[in-house]
Amino acid sequence: MSLSSPLISAKGIIRTIVPMTNDNHLFEFSDSSGALRACKPGQFVELWVPGVGECPISVCSGRVGDTIQLMVRKVGRVTSALFQMSEGDWVGLRGPYGHGFPVDKYKGKNLCLVAGGLGVAPIRSLWQYVIDHREDFGKLILIYGMRHSFDLLFRQEFQLLLRRKDIEVYIAAEDTAGPEIPSLTVQLGRVTDMIDLAPISADFEVALCGPPVMYKYAVERLQKKGIPASNLWLSLERHMKCGIGKCGHCFVGGRFTCKSGPVFSLAELNLLPEVIECNHGGI
Ligand SMILES: Cc1cc2nc3c(=O)[nH]c(=O)nc-3n(C[C@H](O)[C@H](O)[C@H](O)COP(=O)(O)OP(=O)(O)OC[C@H]3O[C@@H](n4cnc5c(N)ncnc54)[C@H](O)[C@@H]3O)c2cc1C
Ligand code: FES
Repeated sequence: MSLSSPLISAKGIIRTIVPMTNDNHLFEFSDSSGALRACKPGQFVELWVPGVGECPISVCSGRVGDTIQLMVRKVGRVTSALFQMSEGDWVGLRGPYGHGFPVDKYKGKNLCLVAGGLGVAPIRSLWQYVIDHREDFGKLILIYGMRHSFDLLFRQEFQLLLRRKDIEVYIAAEDTAGPEIPSLTVQLGRVTDMIDLAPISADFEVALCGPPVMYKYAVERLQKKGIPASNLWLSLERHMKCGIGKCGHCFVGGRFTCKSGPVFSLAELNLLPEVIECNHGGI
């Protein structure tokens, strides 16, 4: 069943809350309308906390089922209110919105997924999708960078990914001082160092999500490896409100990023150079 109006939220009951760090929790919601079954990797939903407001959050699970997972960082009004809630409480969810990663285009190709910080949330929806349809894709390389090693999200899932033979995983932190991460090799460095290290060649499709500053340098290194602009896919999490092209909050270069994006190829963005430079709404 789909929702009758794109602006009406469906009730999502909080099934589980898994704290990953102090300010980053993984929430699993039941999907009462069934509309969120249509979520594709890289799309987002609008999360409404009654009496507080709404904000866009990326779909974080690539597996279709009766629930949806969102990785939420506590930063402001809506997210702080969500952190006050408990399992069994309900929120509003509407969506899915935007164009996600073009998984059909990736079929049969070698793939590299690059995540910086909280950008790992939408990238996780993509690696779960690829792993569930593994035979449809070629090589799979996953690069994940963060400021401190204790910011690492999905620790247990990475332990499982690192054991798989059909995916190469590179994890880097700018600061590895602090608590040990059992059986996880976190290298000292940045996403860009891992891009240099990884065997990525010109035939790869590359999907990126991270803070705006990551894009500039990561794209430079990937282009040095010969990846054409048409194979580089960036998720731009510009400041959005309605999520459906009505309010104008995300209007840039003649387009609504909520409707045309949030995922764009660099070839498209080269027509809109200001998008990367002024993308201050990053996650
Ligand atoms: C497509 C998309 C996908 C996203 N995916 C995710 C995701 O998966 N997970 C996630 O956690 N986030 C995600 N975000 C980001 C999330 O939507 C924002 O962080 C959102 O603003 C949170 O809402 P809030 O009401 O909690 O914060 P707000 O209250 O809107 O605050 C947002 C920021 O503004 C600052 N701020 C607020 N008021 C003031 C003020 N008066 N003066 C100065 N600073 C102020 C806050 O400190 C905070 O840093 C995504 C955004 C987009 C567009
Ligand atoms: S978020 Fe309202 S127009 Fe894009």
